[in-house]
Amino acid sequence: MYSAGFLLAALPYLTSALAGGKHKLAKRESTLIPSSCFDSTSSLTEYFNYNYPWGDTHNGAAIMKEAQSVIADSGTLTLNATYTGASDYAYDSGTVYAKQQFTIEASGGLDFSAEFIAPVATGTWPAFWLNGVNSWPPEIDIAEWKGSGDISFNTFNSSSEVEAKDVDYPSPPDFHKVLAELRDQDGSNVSINFYLDGALVTTQYASGLVGEPLNLIIDLQMEGSSGSPGPTGSECFPFLLKQRNFEADTDSSHVISIKNLEVIDKNP
Ligand SMILES: *[C@@H]1O[C@H](CO)[C@@H](O)[C@H](O)[C@H]1NC(C)=O
Ligand SMILES: *[C@@H]1O[C@H](CO)[C@@H](O)[C@H](O)[C@H]1NC(C)=O
Ligand SMILES: *[C@@H]1O[C@H](CO)[C@@H](O)[C@H](O)[C@H]1NC(C)=O
Repeated sequence: MYSAGFLLAALPYLTSALAGGKHKLAKRESTLIPSSCFDSTSSLTEYFNYNYPWGDTHNGAAIMKEAQSVIADSGTLTLNATYTGASDYAYDSGTVYAKQQFTIEASGGLDFSAEFIAPVATGTWPAFWLNGVNSWPPEIDIAEWKGSGDISFNTFNSSSEVEAKDVDYPSPPDFHKVLAELRDQDGSNVSINFYLDGALVTTQYASGLVGEPLNLIIDLQMEGSSGSPGPTGSECFPFLLKQRNFEADTDSSHVISIKNLEVIDKNP
């Protein structure tokens, strides 16, 4: 029979032996997109392409143009939607998507995180999301703002089988961090833990996502799911100023800022 003293003395060795064994089996996590990705236009274009994987429009009133996705300050990507009043697409805006595609492998996972200043005005529809490469769905909205004042976290199994969680989005003019941890559950289904500012908001499950390649997209779409009419130069002003109740001006730009984006590989 061992004494309590022996067990206490042995505990650190047992713990490190277990940890050592685990490290031998599991690959150490690696960084797929580093937080320096928005340090310059060349680091942006090392990791991202402009527009959507399929083109320059998607379910809304904006047409995406390369010039509307800019590194204004080192470390921060700005997507800028500008009202043009054009009859087909009334806004020029910005979208980028990761050059790499992302796949959750059996027993593995992926972490996606970034900090955002995002507009919540009617008609502004920014999103940080994953879309199936081979089909839609899958879709996972790591964060989406649909012009209601809320932030939304969503997982689509099909167009009608959707888990959606809307929560109040505090102080939009400030940066807020979102994190989604995607993990294989059973060799086929994937669990997603959605965090806002370090707090777990919801856990959702995606059907059959293991082995399915995903595109990572950051866009500032306009109108569509965020309602209409969207802001125009004559009646609106930059949301940052609007949120802070500064004096109105006639600038017709609406921007989202993103920094410290990271994708971490937890696959074996
Ligand atoms: C947004 O884009 C428009 C047109 O390209 C430009 O005039 C404006 O200065 C930009 N605004 C910001 C905040 O980047
Ligand atoms: C995936 O989840 C569904 C619903 O919970 C379940 O019926 C199915 O057995 C799961 N798949 C696997 C491979 O366990
Ligand atoms: C989506 O599929 C997963 C796995 O089968 C399941 O657990 C989840 O409940 C489904 N979502 C909805 C909204 O039914």
